[in-house]
Amino acid sequence: MKVAVIGTGYVGLVSGTCLAAWGHDVVCVDKDAQKIAGLQKAVLPIYEPGLADLVESNAAAGRLNFTCNLAEALAGAALVLIAVGTPARAGHGDADLSFVYMAARELAPHLETGAVVTIKSTVPVGTGDVVEKIIGSIRPSGSFSVASNPEFLREGVAVRDFLDPDRVVIGVEDERARKALMDLYRPPLEMRGTPIVVTRRRTSELIKYAANAFLATKITFINELADLCEEVGSDVGELALGMGLDKRIGASFLNAGPGYGGSCFPKDTLALLRTAQDHGVSLRLVEETVTANEARKRRMALKVIDALDGDVDGATIAVLGLTFKPDTDDMRDAPSVPLIETLQRFGANVRAYDPVGQENASRLLSDVEFCLDAYECVRGADAVVVVTEWESIRKLDLARVKRAMRQPVLVDLRNAVSHGVARELGFHVSAIGRSASAWREAEGTQAGERRARARLGGGDKQTT
Ligand code: UDX
Repeated sequence: MKVAVIGTGYVGLVSGTCLAAWGHDVVCVDKDAQKIAGLQKAVLPIYEPGLADLVESNAAAGRLNFTCNLAEALAGAALVLIAVGTPARAGHGDADLSFVYMAARELAPHLETGAVVTIKSTVPVGTGDVVEKIIGSIRPSGSFSVASNPEFLREGVAVRDFLDPDRVVIGVEDERARKALMDLYRPPLEMRGTPIVVTRRRTSELIKYAANAFLATKITFINELADLCEEVGSDVGELALGMGLDKRIGASFLNAGPGYGGSCFPKDTLALLRTAQDHGVSLRLVEETVTANEARKRRMALKVIDALDGDVDGATIAVLGLTFKPDTDDMRDAPSVPLIETLQRFGANVRAYDPVGQENASRLLSDVEFCLDAYECVRGADAVVVVTEWESIRKLDLARVKRAMRQPVLVDLRNAVSHGVARELGFHVSAIGRSASAWREAEGTQAGERRARARLGGGDKQTT
């Protein structure tokens, strides 16, 4: 099937490339000539593991093409995917749909008769209806269909999420759209037994927001429980394990941390609240999630300040990991930004290291000294703060880190490194959801615990 993909951002590029990998004839179109010129040489505008190789091999096989010419992309295309951005409108919270509507207006004159226009961008309920009207004002009704097919891919594992999804959701209003989308997804996914949920367009649009809001709420729940753990002497990791093994709860998305960020959860929860508000419905749980997450991100700096006995003025703080999560260069709504800004406001000098996010981070942060690697970053530091759990940061040689620092204070906002080893080395450790009285390393022994207790009792400051 010939598929045209409008927009070569995360969703468009991953979807187009993976559809080509399934054997479809894909043309990706974007207005950004520089981006397209890069993609024609397999130079990607984003960092996503595995994607560059897939772009290169499918382009070489002739199944994946990039162009700025919309008419050329749409010629012969039975399916058109709209995958343009829907950023939050500044000061409003609702999604800015101008790119979606512009794409609908511009594609309409070039659309093949019988083509199915499918919205992959995350859009509020009812957007498909508007897109149908826009195209219908230019093309005769009945000569095209409009469908919804939200994308659930996660940055960092986007290729895998597309090729092997938990489910596919299709929202259609007619048989032509249902058939086209089933023809697209059923053959490659049939063997895997992947469920395909076929529903009406409005339900499909809402599923995406509901899923993201639920996951954001789940993370916020465990984050709040982490705060309680710290006060009552419980361990949030073990708490999450004990809860998550209940199949009704599920183990994923129970990792406590500095608050969720990224391009989806913050934006989509706000847009969902806006939709609810517009319809006179109150989603209190989602409202609380948004408020609690924002407050948490700001509060993380206090954890660092506490670990340095309440004063970071003039202190050097090494921040490891800047992106909103590992395996991406995306800095959107990353917890590292409010953390660093707050520490700077309190007089700290901040050095930072991120394996791939530094270029994007440098556009958002000022007066930060970016370092070539983690060990350079911690040199002479009064505290090291782990913000993003990159594999290389998880595997840090803590002895080497300690030797390079001015004083051994570790604030681990992801519980990413071994606190047992850190304590053995003499670090003061401040973690998430583990209190001084109750910490017991998953990898630790009772002897280790006794030694550590003795050390804590022996005058070490209790920053755990
Ligand atoms: C998310 C959804 O998972 C995906 O389905 C949707 O299409 C887009 O939004 P993404 O933003 O790429 O994907 O990242 P995800 O892995 O979901 O993480 C989002 C945020 O939650 C990150 O800041 C991450 O660190 C945080 N998180 C996630 C936690 O703090 N704890 C967890 O247990 C899981």
